[in-house]
Amino acid sequence: MSARPRVFATRNIPSPGMDLLKSECDVTIWPHGRIISHEELTENVAGVDGILCHYINTIDEQVLDAAGPNLKVVATFAVGYDLIDVEACHKRNVQVGHTPNVLSDSVAELAVALLLASSRRLKEGMADITNGQADGKWESGLYLSGPETKGSTVGIIGLGRIGLAVAKRLKGFDVARFLYYDIAEVPLAVEVSAEFASFERLLSESDFVLACCSSNSDNYGLFDKEAFKKMKNSAVFVNVTRGILVNQDDLYEALTTGQIFAAGLDATTPEPISKNHPLVKLDNCIILPHIGSSTTTTRNNMSILTAKNILAGLKGEALIQCVKKKA
Ligand code: GLV
Repeated sequence: MSARPRVFATRNIPSPGMDLLKSECDVTIWPHGRIISHEELTENVAGVDGILCHYINTIDEQVLDAAGPNLKVVATFAVGYDLIDVEACHKRNVQVGHTPNVLSDSVAELAVALLLASSRRLKEGMADITNGQADGKWESGLYLSGPETKGSTVGIIGLGRIGLAVAKRLKGFDVARFLYYDIAEVPLAVEVSAEFASFERLLSESDFVLACCSSNSDNYGLFDKEAFKKMKNSAVFVNVTRGILVNQDDLYEALTTGQIFAAGLDATTPEPISKNHPLVKLDNCIILPHIGSSTTTTRNNMSILTAKNILAGLKGEALIQCVKKKA
């Protein structure tokens, strides 16, 4: 019988991390090329020492019970761990690892890309070229015009690592001012001269509203009808964190009634969103399949960090990046 620890992975990760993991463990990777269901997850983790999951997998009491007493570590290939029952893990002395820092820059890049793509109407422009319909549309002089970042007010919800990285990048676009809303004032806000504001003030004064916060049961549906009503009609909304922050029916209404100008989403409910979803059909809504951290460098670095977290956890050592126990 193998003395090597057993790890179950809900998906593959890039080879720098997977090779490292396989050098010390027997790794079983969910082989079916689709998201594993919760039931399938519980069936596959029996007796494992470690679980390598992704942000989309729910790790709850049921999964932990199914894994049993060998389990020492759960590590997600993500910074967000909203679907992991951290308290239940800690109760069982199972450490929880994640991948902060290494992905902040790539997610911030994508947030800026979405802001520009949705304000400058790239989806419509590309469609006009693809469909051969651009000819003649220039006549008004305002063809595919949209709001400009120069001189604008940018509102960032959640001035953590990603929010700060977004502001640092947008500074180069000559934004006039940054507002931010968070659970408390953030000392690092001085680095980007961002002003702390209430949620309501941020919504009503910002030309661009970017959701960069983590999700928890307190902010589910934060962006609802009332929130969109407070935004400017010219506002562009960007979400690079979790779909659950947004009431998508209310967003659809805001985008189709001219309540807001456009939206760029890297996170939706569910993921991936169906091609038949009404939001997907809108010209003024750009939706991506949750690729915020997807640069080759970042994904490779995330894979190494995830592997190191698991290897440390299996040895009973402190993880490189662990989700801390509640005091
Ligand atoms: C992705 O959304 C992550 O949490 O890393």
